[in-house]
Amino acid sequence: MKISVIGCGYLGAVHAASMAELGHEVVGVDVDQAKIDALAAAKAPFFEPGLPEILASANASGRLRFTTDMSEVADAEVHFIAVGTPQKKGEYAADLTYVDAAVTALLPHLRDGALVVGKSTVPVGTAARLADLVATADADASLAWNPEFLREGFAVQDTLGPDRLVYGVAAGAAGERAAGILDRIYEVALAKDTPRIVTDYATAELVKVSANAFLATKISFINAMAEIAEATGADVTQLADAIGHDVRIGRRFLNSGLGFGGGCLPKDIRAFRARGEELGLGNSLAFLGEVDAINLRRRDRMVDLAREVLGGSLDGKRVAVLGLAFKPDSDDVRDSPSLDVAARIRAEGATVVATDPEAIETASRQHPEFEYVATAEEAAVGADVVLVLTEWKQYRALEPADLAVAAGRIILDGRNCLDREKWRAAGWLYRSLGRP
Ligand code: UGA
Repeated sequence: MKISVIGCGYLGAVHAASMAELGHEVVGVDVDQAKIDALAAAKAPFFEPGLPEILASANASGRLRFTTDMSEVADAEVHFIAVGTPQKKGEYAADLTYVDAAVTALLPHLRDGALVVGKSTVPVGTAARLADLVATADADASLAWNPEFLREGFAVQDTLGPDRLVYGVAAGAAGERAAGILDRIYEVALAKDTPRIVTDYATAELVKVSANAFLATKISFINAMAEIAEATGADVTQLADAIGHDVRIGRRFLNSGLGFGGGCLPKDIRAFRARGEELGLGNSLAFLGEVDAINLRRRDRMVDLAREVLGGSLDGKRVAVLGLAFKPDSDDVRDSPSLDVAARIRAEGATVVATDPEAIETASRQHPEFEYVATAEEAAVGADVVLVLTEWKQYRALEPADLAVAAGRIILDGRNCLDREKWRAAGWLYRSLGRP
């Protein structure tokens, strides 16, 4: 099918390349010329495993092109809206400026009967509003909401093989037609029996935000248990293993530590709460405020722990920070817990020597004041304390002897990802969050 993808950030670039990989003819549109130039040259503008490969094969096939000119989408039958919905400055609500601008710019180019498909994460009620706009531009055009559940680091595999497909469509014949079009787009996934839920707009919008709210709640739940474990001498990782054996609970997303960050979970729970307030249902989502607070307290705790193991002050100390990305296999530092902790440690007068396998460039744009080095071994040179803040496999695999260059023998494991006994046996002071 002929498809356009409007917005070529994380979501859009991966979606455009994946749709071309599946055999569709795709044009990706973005207002950022530099991004478009990179993508057209098959260069991924961010680190995402597998993306350069599918960009190269899709570009070479002639089925994928990129442009800043919206008029080039005019012959597409389906237009995916994949622009960002960041947190508004100084507020919890989502900023819909980019969604509104994308749809408004698209309307004059809709061909008869075109389908506009929203993928961005939006507050419930947005799709119904946009459907009215689309209908006023072309009586035969329609809108569907098809939320995306991809995880960074697995974005290509999640897009090519989603664990479920959700279509929010209008009632009646227009909705049936929209679902039929989406079925053609996703026919490869559907042939593999991927679950497909066809529903109304509001449910589709809520599926997305409630999924992220649930995941955030699960992480904050285990981190609240970590706070209790710290006060009582219990071990939160064993607790997670033990409760995780109950299939009703499950072990995934029960990894305690520095908590969640990134471009989705933090802003999505805040926007959801804000939408709840607007709907007069603040009580229903008030718990998300607690989820957010527990999450942010873990960062405070990490800074406190660093200060404590250094005798009460960080001033003048040399602190090695291993990991800057909000999670492994990503160069994304949006709302990264590690970067936040590093910045606070630096603000207390320490020298931060930081490293990350992929995120040095993105981190240094926000924090040019840190010293950046290529490896954990280099970061540890002369360090009073070593902090492991993102659980990259390179850091999980570290041996105490690798960091023998450190001035102190103190390691703080912010992700409960190291073998505690091994570090202690080698004479290190090992501390982590939620474990004795
Ligand atoms: C999240 C969701 O997992 C995706 O399903 C969703 O599509 C995406 O947001 C989105 O809305 O676009 P992502 O932001 O890529 O995906 O990251 P996650 O894998 O969910 O991790 C989020 C944060 O939680 C990371 O900082 C990670 O370190 C932390 N985390 C995760 C934990 O602290 N403990 C865990 O057990 C799992």
